[in-house]
Amino acid sequence: MDNNRTAVFIDRDGTLIEDIGVLTHPVQIRLLPEAIDALRILHKKHLLFIVSNQPGISRGDVTKEQVALINHTLDDLFRKNGVHITEWYICPHERSEGCHCIKPNPYFLIEAAKKYSLNLQRSFMIGDHPHDVLTGDTVGVFGLYLLSGHGFSHLDELSEERLIFHTIGQAAAWIDLHPHSQDDFLSEIKLGAAAIRKGDLTAFPTETVYGLGADAFNAAAVARIYEVKRRPLHNPLIVHIADVEQVELLATQVSDQARTLMEKFWPGPLTLVLTKSSSVPEIVTAGNPTVAIRMPANPWTRQLIRLSETPIAAPSANAFGRTSPTTAAHVREQLSGSYDVLIDGGACRVGMESTVLSVYGKNPILLRHGGICKTDIETLIGHVLSFEQNISDIKKLESPGMMASHYAPDTPLHIVDDVRQFAKRPDVGILLFERKAEIFSGPVETLSPAGNLREAAVNLYSCLRKLDGMKLSLIVVERLPETGLGVAINDRLTKAAAPFVSE
Ligand code: TXA
Ligand code: MG
Repeated sequence: MDNNRTAVFIDRDGTLIEDIGVLTHPVQIRLLPEAIDALRILHKKHLLFIVSNQPGISRGDVTKEQVALINHTLDDLFRKNGVHITEWYICPHERSEGCHCIKPNPYFLIEAAKKYSLNLQRSFMIGDHPHDVLTGDTVGVFGLYLLSGHGFSHLDELSEERLIFHTIGQAAAWIDLHPHSQDDFLSEIKLGAAAIRKGDLTAFPTETVYGLGADAFNAAAVARIYEVKRRPLHNPLIVHIADVEQVELLATQVSDQARTLMEKFWPGPLTLVLTKSSSVPEIVTAGNPTVAIRMPANPWTRQLIRLSETPIAAPSANAFGRTSPTTAAHVREQLSGSYDVLIDGGACRVGMESTVLSVYGKNPILLRHGGICKTDIETLIGHVLSFEQNISDIKKLESPGMMASHYAPDTPLHIVDDVRQFAKRPDVGILLFERKAEIFSGPVETLSPAGNLREAAVNLYSCLRKLDGMKLSLIVVERLPETGLGVAINDRLTKAAAPFVSE
């Protein structure tokens, strides 16, 4: 038999259906919204297997038969929708039993490979727990991590190289475009780097938002960024680097304080504004004597920069003044045709732009709230002035992240004290911070059901876009708590709420 068949191994709870703990009866099944469509896409090219840990069986919380009935019900439903699951694999044990079949052991993957002559190096595993994506590692199966289910709460355990997706629908779309898994993704990065070297534009993922990049030392290439984004020429770009050594290419007079910040927060979502070196083209810095530099935490972004053999100047990959893209699909929607290569690296882990901090003058000044909060910076270097303080020095800096209207959806957005007054308006979209018992007539998006500010940041632009695409007359949102990332989120919401003035 040939070994050319490929598979997608899929976790059940939190990935295909809502994870509500131990399910004992089919009536408890709640299918996740994109599950069927995702399976349909995957089914076209791959055999499908469900691989599920059900330790409740060993614990006596559920019987084997009950689990079988639930799986049978799901199997029927999938079949009615044209999707055939090749096998349903269940590990009934608790971890303490030391069995071979519990994830992240690749036991079932190997079983399936033997029985169906699978090429595991061309196969995938999708799940919402770090164990799911680790399961295939030793046998060459590419793991995709979902933020659904328990995905967000375990995100910190996941290494930065892992690709993450908001939903199984997004993961399925990625697999569809990358049938050779890792190899395809790496060649996409190489293509992106080749484009940068040639003076073309590459849209790429970072941990904050997607960027639209060009060789920072190629003024003509950088000019094209302004052109396709319709970005005013007085709005400078951030230059992205892969190694601290590249700072020397771009900036002079780097203070000890700046070095301290780099050591602590790089790679990561902190942009430092430093005195520019004469070799940086004026168009990158919009004529300013300073240059904004950041080293992204996403290792694939740094790989792209290394392969490009030059720092990359890049704004967020959205049309000027519009919401920032946190998935490749967002970039396609807004900028399709404007870039030469788009690297699809899944969803952004932080979801919020970098914090911009000026460190070239006497006092550090916060120019934009973002992924690293002000208090964390102050813990390290002491008091930091902020653009909100209205100091003439700061005004002169004209950091466009400070502009009143920015990051805006097309639908008018209002920040209100109590969203419940709109509960009976089907034409009003509600953006909630955390889960509410209230029933709303209009569509509702929740930033973080459990009320976690980091999760809210990851979901902010996706949720805004979803509501924005529904042709509503209004989107209303409640202000978030003013702590940690809440400050940056409220800042973006305030800017999204101001009337959009084109420059
Ligand atoms: O997370 C991010 O920062 C993303 C990703 C792609 O890295 N980039 C991003 O770029 O948000 P952009 O262009 O949308 O925002 C850059 C911000 C603007 O507020 C800009 O005014 C400020 O950085 N900036 C850039 N150069 C500056 C400079 N020399 N002085 C003051 N502010 C500067
Ligand atoms: Mg799960």
